[in-house]
Order: sequence, then structure tokens, then C-alpha cells
Amino acid sequence: MSKALNDFRLKLAGKEYVPIFVGGMGVDISTAELALEAARLGGIGHISDAMVPTVSDRRFKTNYVQEKQKKYKFNIGNVDKSLVQFDLERLAEAQKLFVSRTMDSKKGDGAIFINCMEKLTMNSPRDTLQTRLLAAMDAGIDGITLSAGLHLGSMELMKDHPRFRDVMIGVIVSSLRALRPFLKRAAKFERLPDYITVEGPLAGGHLGFGADDWHEYSLKKIVNEILNYLNENDLNIPVVPAGGIFTGTDGVEFLESGASAVQVATRFTVTEECGLPEKTKHHYLEAVEEDIIVNTISPTGYPMRMLRQSPGIADGIRPNCEAFGYILDNSGHCQYVDAYNRELDKNEGKISVQDKTCLCTQFRKFRIWTCGHNVYRLKDTTHKLEDGKYKLLSAEDVFNDYQFSKDHMIKLPERKTSTASEISLAAA
Ligand SMILES: Cc1cc2nc3c(=O)[nH]c(=O)nc-3n(C[C@H](O)[C@H](O)[C@H](O)COP(=O)(O)O)c2cc1C
Repeated sequence: MSKALNDFRLKLAGKEYVPIFVGGMGVDISTAELALEAARLGGIGHISDAMVPTVSDRRFKTNYVQEKQKKYKFNIGNVDKSLVQFDLERLAEAQKLFVSRTMDSKKGDGAIFINCMEKLTMNSPRDTLQTRLLAAMDAGIDGITLSAGLHLGSMELMKDHPRFRDVMIGVIVSSLRALRPFLKRAAKFERLPDYITVEGPLAGGHLGFGADDWHEYSLKKIVNEILNYLNENDLNIPVVPAGGIFTGTDGVEFLESGASAVQVATRFTVTEECGLPEKTKHHYLEAVEEDIIVNTISPTGYPMRMLRQSPGIADGIRPNCEAFGYILDNSGHCQYVDAYNRELDKNEGKISVQDKTCLCTQFRKFRIWTCGHNVYRLKDTTHKLEDGKYKLLSAEDVFNDYQFSKDHMIKLPERKTSTASEISLAAA
């Protein structure tokens, strides 16, 4: 008898969940609304704390970005950005506001986790990461997923918080090599992770593989290596594969070979609840396989997968570290700032920076269209309407399809809501 993901349950810290994580997608692509739906349906939803002051300004009419920009206005023309620091109190305030508002709206038996990327170094990596982690726990988050980095110091940053042992903590790795030192550090604090997300080469966002060799890796192989290692060392930690899991049956195959849940994201980018602008969702739906590229334009140093039509590619926008500055390293450097200044020295006209992108501004404006490799299959998950556009889905449609579908089938959404074009056709 073929199985569905619904035939399995994930056990985490004494509770049972539908074994589906909706992955974190910054900047506010995996919105609170999307995460809340996953939790309502019994799974695990992620918000992301990428650029949380910006997200807070948008959602709650706070003024963090303008305030920071005003404070450092004098530095805008300066190549040296080392002076531009985040106010940690303000950062904590934004994080608490975002997390607590989300948690206040939670319904159902699932959980809400937050994705915290170490690579958002924010000109003071240790302090800003610690501020984000502690504030998320203060505000009642159910779990923290440590991502985009090795996080060798992150357990220590959290160890004195009263919730250190009750909040769920997971880490994203792309290899056993990256996992081993993390576990070693965690063991020092007698605080092993509650789950390990294993992100393979087909995932969206930043990749833990080379831009040229990602296709040589296989998620199944890495997951098996990690499962074997955990077994051999008597470590009973749930493993959550991610990257390219497109049908419920793809997920079932992982659960049957020892994984405890799956993490998925790309299929949710075309839901109503996803934070991407509607037009961008349609670009995702219309993508063909040739549109998908992995490049090194992210100033984090990690390769990233995206649609080649992303308007943020080869743009020459002036860096705005005074307002943002999330990628500034601990000495105030960002690869985009360097690349921009190099072009500025060569050019007098309009600048185009080919090799790097301004991640802060471009992500804030949703102009880098990052996606998983299977983005080109999204068109098979919905209906094409009379106006040639695809019908957007609801997060519930996609979640239920992952949970209940069998034999690699994908259930298309009901045609219950009429679009404007359908209504006008009907009226004609
Ligand atoms: C649009 C988009 C944005 C993403 N942003 C992040 C992020 O900010 N942090 C992170 O750890 N992973 C990020 N990811 C990776 C997802 O959380 C997830 O692990 C992965 O994409 C799952 O594979 P799938 O998209 O093939 O289902 C992103 C993925 C997508 C599609």
C-alpha cells in the first residue's frame, strides 16, 4: 500500500506534529501568515528574522530604518562603513515585536520556528546574532533554526537564557563535515539540537555547495551519511531533509529511509500567504528550467539559486548600509560595497555591477528571485486561467497536498474562487 506523509508523525520534545516544515524564506517571503497556516494545520512554519527592523517597519509602522539612516546620514558618501552599527536595543525591540505578534496569532497544534542566518553579520556578528536569538526566545518563539553558517558559537550565545533548554533548537547543514563540529560544540553545553535539517543542492536561497559542483551532490546520499553517523554514535536526533522535495511521495521516500520530517519551501512561493509580490509569483509560475541559475552574486560568499530574469542582477544601485548594512562583516566590509566602488572609479555614467548584488536593497524590494531548482514545475501544481495566468494557491492547498497525496500525484486547487477575468468572461 502506498503511503502519504500523513501516515507519519514527527516527535519533537514530547509533542507530535505533521512531519512537514515550511522553510524560512527571508526577507519576509515566508510571512507570519504562511507560517501560521503551517502551524494551524499541525506542521511547523518558519518566519525569518532577516532584516527584521525593515519587516517591522512595514508591518507595524515602526521607524527603525529611517532612524538608523538619519543617525548615520553623515557617512553615506564614505567608503568605510565600519562606523555604521545597529542599535542592539532597537534590534531586540523589532525582533520581539515581530515574534510576539506572530505567536499571539498562533492557532492549532503545530509550531512556529524562526530562521536565524549567521551570515547576516550586521557589522557586529556576535552581538547582533545574540540579540536576535535572545529576543526571539523572550518573545515566545517555539523553535530556532540556525542557518547560513556553521553556528559554532551560537549555543554559547544562548546558554544563559532561561528558555535555553525548553525552546527547540535546530541547525541546517549541507554535509556531515559541517554537522560534526556543531555537535561537538553543542555537547559542551549538554544541549544537542532537537532536529537537524539537511539541505541538499536543489534548495532555494543560499547553498552549502559550490556554484559549479552543486549538481554532483545528492540529498539522499548526504541524508544517509548523516543518519548512519547519528546511529553509529547513538544520537537520536530527528533528521529533516530539504531541497527539491516536490511531492508528498518524495517526502515519504525520505521518511521510509529514516528521516523524521521534510522541509519544503518553493511550492509555497506561489501561495496567497507568501510575501512575494503577486507579479513575482507569476514569474515563478511561468519559469522554465533554463531560467534557473546558480551564481555567486550574493555578497555573503555563498552561491545562490535564482531566476535569471531577477531584476536585481547586474543592477548598480548605491549601497545603503546606513539604513540597512546586514551583510557588513565584523570590520564593516561588504563585497557589494567593494564591487560598487570599483565600478564607480571606472565609470561616470550609470553603473552596472555584474559580479555582486546589493542583497539588502534587492531583497527588501523582492528583486532577487531566489527559488529551488524545481520552480519550473510549479505550473503543474495549479490551473491555467482563461487570461493565460496561473491561479495562485492557498498555503492550505499546498500543505494538504504534501500531507495527503500519494503516488507522486499533485492535487490541483479547487476552482472555487473566480478571478476578475473569469467574472468578466462570465458577465460578457
Ligand atoms: C524564496 C526562498 C527563500 C529562501 N530563503 C531562505 C532563508 O532566508 N534562509 C534559509 O535558511 N533558507 C532559505 N531558503 C531555503 C528554504 O528554507 C528550504 O530549506 C529549501 O528551499 C527547501 O527546498 P525546496 O524549495 O526545493 O522545497 C529559501 C528558499 C526559497 C525558495
